[in-house]
Amino acid sequence: MRTPCFIANWKMNKTIAEAREYLQAVEKRWPQLPGAPWETIVAPPFTMLAPMADFLKERPLQIGLAGQNVHFEERGAYTGEVSPLMLRDAGCRHVIIGHSERRTYFGETNALIHKKIGGALRAGLIPILCVGETREEREEEKTGEVIERQIREALDDLRPGPSDWIIAYEPVWAIGTGLTPQPSEAEEVHRRIRDFFRSLSKEEEADTPRILYGGSATEKNIAAFMEEADIDGVLAGGASLFAESFCNMIDLGVKAKEK
Ligand code: PGA
Repeated sequence: MRTPCFIANWKMNKTIAEAREYLQAVEKRWPQLPGAPWETIVAPPFTMLAPMADFLKERPLQIGLAGQNVHFEERGAYTGEVSPLMLRDAGCRHVIIGHSERRTYFGETNALIHKKIGGALRAGLIPILCVGETREEREEEKTGEVIERQIREALDDLRPGPSDWIIAYEPVWAIGTGLTPQPSEAEEVHRRIRDFFRSLSKEEEADTPRILYGGSATEKNIAAFMEEADIDGVLAGGASLFAESFCNMIDLGVKAKEK
């Protein structure tokens, strides 16, 4: 059984004080959190990582931290960049790589994403690789093909074990728009991703990475997504900015998975 995983991607939002308030709200809601049969990860902006790690260190809250982006080198003359080692140092176990906003606004290619994944793995970080098709690609029925290419080129020669990865399927047209695919349509893509990872292994029943859905996931729709067999969790943007709604999503998602 794959442990359900819920990731809050705060994007470029919040201050250090607001991040602390958020964690305090989660703590109030889940004093019983240790031992929870799911994984919670928050990806705040870089400036909040170390203070959040300090806050979490003093408490039994099981919340992991992720970077939203990373450079592929350990160190060097790369003004404005943050290295995988620095993310580890600031308390991260995970890092989001290849988010569609990075691909669209910052020109990240599959080749660059491949380098970033390599850098993350070398530093012992678990990549959360984001993939997804645009509306045009979907209309042209190229979804499966596009996603497979994104994963194949991001991987290239890398063959990490299943627990070294999280994949997030995020249709570009669903991010921040309030639009979503039908859960059964998302499931079809997740299934294809899982089959692709199985095909890389010789064993038929090989373990595969957890595959999360992302794109306008909310309290209203999370249960329906989580009821699908190959949807192991959710990567939420807008709805994750409020502690209350992110916690509600997790409760509903876990319940749906237990059904
Ligand atoms: P959204 O963002 O939930 O606001 O659509 C998801 C994401 O970009 O990861």
